[in-house]
Amino acid sequence: MTPTRTASIGTPVARIEGPLKVTGTARYAVEYPVENVAYAWVVQAPIARGHVVSIEPGDDDGLLALLWHGNAPRLESGDDPELQVLQSPRISYRGQVVALAVARTLEAARRAAQSVRMELVEEEHDAELTPDHPGLYTPEKVNPAFPSDTSAGDVDAALAAAAATVDVTYSTPALHNNPMEPHATTAMWVGDDLVLYDSNQGPSAIASQVAKVFSLKRSQIHVIAEHVGGGFGSKGSARPNAILAAMAARVVGTPVRLALPRQALFTMVGHRTPTIQRVRLGASADGKLTAIAHDVVEQTSRLFEFAEQTAVVTRHMYAAPNRRTSHRLARLDMPTPRWMRAPGEAPGMVALEGALDELAVSLGIDPIELRIRNEPDVEPEDGTPFSSRHYVECLRLGASRFGWAGRSLEPRQRREGRWWVGTGMAGATYPSMVMPSTATVRIDPERRVEVTLAAVDIGTGSRTVLHQIAADGMGVPLENVTVRIGDSGLTRASIAGGSSGSASWGWAIDGACRLLREELSRLTGPVPPDGLSATFDTTPDVKSRENSGKHAFGAHFAEVRVDADTGEVRVSRLLGAYAVGRVLNPRTARSQFIGGMTMGMGMALHEESVLDASTGDWVNHDLAEYHVPVHADVESIEAVWIDEEDLSVNPLGVKGIGEIGIVGSPAAIVNAVWHATGVRVRDLPVRLDKLL
Ligand code: MOS
Repeated sequence: MTPTRTASIGTPVARIEGPLKVTGTARYAVEYPVENVAYAWVVQAPIARGHVVSIEPGDDDGLLALLWHGNAPRLESGDDPELQVLQSPRISYRGQVVALAVARTLEAARRAAQSVRMELVEEEHDAELTPDHPGLYTPEKVNPAFPSDTSAGDVDAALAAAAATVDVTYSTPALHNNPMEPHATTAMWVGDDLVLYDSNQGPSAIASQVAKVFSLKRSQIHVIAEHVGGGFGSKGSARPNAILAAMAARVVGTPVRLALPRQALFTMVGHRTPTIQRVRLGASADGKLTAIAHDVVEQTSRLFEFAEQTAVVTRHMYAAPNRRTSHRLARLDMPTPRWMRAPGEAPGMVALEGALDELAVSLGIDPIELRIRNEPDVEPEDGTPFSSRHYVECLRLGASRFGWAGRSLEPRQRREGRWWVGTGMAGATYPSMVMPSTATVRIDPERRVEVTLAAVDIGTGSRTVLHQIAADGMGVPLENVTVRIGDSGLTRASIAGGSSGSASWGWAIDGACRLLREELSRLTGPVPPDGLSATFDTTPDVKSRENSGKHAFGAHFAEVRVDADTGEVRVSRLLGAYAVGRVLNPRTARSQFIGGMTMGMGMALHEESVLDASTGDWVNHDLAEYHVPVHADVESIEAVWIDEEDLSVNPLGVKGIGEIGIVGSPAAIVNAVWHATGVRVRDLPVRLDKLL
């Protein structure tokens, strides 16, 4: 049987599960009907450093258990100290969970949690990142395994000899992931087996982590995440809610539900580290970069080293013979930073692309032209050829769609009524990653195809594109395909992270389809009544793949209006132009791009977790005070892309689209604000008080 070319890939199929979601039929982690369920509520540390002496119940009406380190079941240590909940009296940051109230009702659990009597010993804490923090050290590597520092040539000499230089420090604030669905778990023990309905970005990975902590065999744990209301990285590994719910369910002997309240998301599940980034650029008069240096200061916690790879992006973007990048970390009495959409690239490009804009101004060269003049032929640091790099094409496509031609180099040139109007641009890039996954594909005599693997759709549309991949892989219409994901009992799949889902899972499905077609072609009779199936594991192929030189690229363009009297900034137009390999579904892809760009707008203008250093607390820890863009903030926002063929990244030629939209879009907006007003804001977000 040869596949008929159904060509589902590349068509704008609407989300398969859309009707379930809009009718409220799709079930999320704490919505599964479970008999005899109890509810849990977290008690969080009200101090940033110290230890717990005792915790006792206050209002215990309906209370089933109050767990704290004095009575909580012991856990095995795993790979993540944040999962060692209630194991130690130590308090490592404000908001760390110190107790869990479990009660018959949600209200009783909350009341009990809020009325506990705590005896604590408080110690002096250190919560504030400063550029010259005395504790700064060089981590061995930055995430996931890059060297902390790199250097080539002589940056200082090149800067001293350069016709034009820029030496600027940009800073980005702490930012918090706020998925619509908070981190939540329903936990249930069935004998010695554990079932978790859990909101996460990777059922296989979460099952392995939780199994380790509870000393279970992998086969004893079952993680279900059929629908997930967003994650942006914060659900990429098991979070304390999964462990706490499972622990509580074991203690009280009934299933337990734990949905973290929105405010707890600001301390218990990670955040994007604040960064302080010094960028120095040197160039010849004709705009050739002679030196690039990008030195980053950022933070981690006392519990865990998380080293955001902020300057790594600078290793790939532009040619220059003399170059250096570095990362320094301070261990603070603060929650551990984690992944937040395009960790590394998003904050790193704020500084690099802002500094390039400043260099373009001082050279009197158009910022697009400056980037084109510094386009590298190969990876600037290690000389690896790029598998494909269409950055310049993105710059040109974006410029033409946006109407860049004729833009003034000077700022503060265009006034429309009460508004100063300006435009800006910045580059974008994201590595094209794949991670090992295994998929099973089955076909029955009616040519109905079933795909199973432990992938997960966190709202991106990945379930839909997996249907499309299988339809084309088996040469059947889309409606013949069923995809089962979101269940750790299925074949092992990688996490929905690193913009790698479609590439990684799609590769496994595509491979299984190929094996199944071969099996069918060897078949002499009809397909047996119970069907035929094939399983494909990409591990050997993925492990033998060279990562270097494989990236998606793009360019962002912004037009802003700034109120001449109040400094209010409005983004009137935002455009992204991308080269991201093959686009599997233009409808869901566009949503991913403009979603990333919207989050980029938040990073440029709205989002900021404000630290009260005296308490180690985030002052604004809810959506009333942590501002994210809403529809009214997004006027015109568009994404376009070029046709890019790159089968060397994976057999589907998919580079990944989930994160590139937030890379560079903040810098494009900040650069546009400068163009409108002549005010260069280097400390994000651009608030109106910084423009007056
Ligand atoms: Mo993304 S921050 O890798 O989920």
